[in-house]
Amino acid sequence: MLILGIETSCDETAAAVVADGRTVLSSVVATQFELHAQYGGVVPEVAARRHLENILPVIQGALDGAGVFLKAIDGIAVTQRPGLIGALIIGMAAAKALSYTLQKPLVGVHHLEAHIMAAFLTETPPEFPFVALVVSGGHTNLYRVDGFMEMALLGRSRDDAAGEAFDKVAKLMGLGYPGGVKVEALARAGKASACNLPRPRVHGEPLTFSFSGLKTAVAYRLKQHPEILADDVARCDLAAGFQAAVVDSLTSRAWLALEQEHCSRLVVCGGVAANLHLRQVLQAHASDTGIDLFLPPPGLCTDNAAMVAALGHRLLMAGERLDLSGDVFSRG
Ligand code: KG4
Ligand code: ZN
Repeated sequence: MLILGIETSCDETAAAVVADGRTVLSSVVATQFELHAQYGGVVPEVAARRHLENILPVIQGALDGAGVFLKAIDGIAVTQRPGLIGALIIGMAAAKALSYTLQKPLVGVHHLEAHIMAAFLTETPPEFPFVALVVSGGHTNLYRVDGFMEMALLGRSRDDAAGEAFDKVAKLMGLGYPGGVKVEALARAGKASACNLPRPRVHGEPLTFSFSGLKTAVAYRLKQHPEILADDVARCDLAAGFQAAVVDSLTSRAWLALEQEHCSRLVVCGGVAANLHLRQVLQAHASDTGIDLFLPPPGLCTDNAAMVAALGHRLLMAGERLDLSGDVFSRG
């Protein structure tokens, strides 16, 4: 069964062909980083217009990459929520048009649940149940996952998402957009112990994340010590201290969730899961404690359409369908 996945929720136009929900035959991602860099962040209307230009060539690229014609596709999966409305509409319109003309089933997927499916596109997928930590630009969510359609939210961020914190701190440090990769590159040359930053907690809600206080702490430090930005060592130490605080906040709650759920399997996914320091801390803890860690390769952690096709496959198999009146939604 061949599923064409389509993803346009934010600033990546992506399409992929996945066989049997497991094998990625092709995955094309057209990023818009350069387009939005001049504004220091994603401009929704600009993103939507670029999706419109990209969508057909990206879909064609995915078909060519998989070596299949459109008529070989058995179903179409498209991100339906959450995301930027104007951006989502472009992917949805393309998916509906294909579904209608090919007379093939269409299904809408939840972007964050699709991120979790990246773990099923690797050689050793997890068994149920497991805990999933989804760390993206817009969300930081912990789930208990008992099945492809049984994902229960255990915790989330009360303010900024982890990726958003990386992006905002990058902006404060004058590194530009997108921030995660740039902060990581600086942090690699820095010493986290030279720059201690807070790990905000929410009283009485141990699985709730909070990153805005951390971002504010970085802003204060830069205001009090603007000379940091002119000193290579101090810049790298600040980036390393910030990154360590984010990674601590993420991992401490992930371990707690595993304990609370009496679970020994952990999936970590979403764009921030591409961060090497986070991956190293997770891997070290997993090998110390015997936790089964499922960490998709970085290319499957950041936005892509293979994960959308993988979840779409499961939903279509379960009989889910979206008709041509199906809408898109900004919130999850
Ligand atoms: O999942 P994703 O690709 O898109 C959304 O669904 O939001 O996540 C994008 C987020 C951005 O905030 C980006 O800065 C962050 O992931 N990110 C990283 C890294 N690569 C991407 N953050 C830290 N380190 C990275 N290497
Ligand atoms: Zn995402």
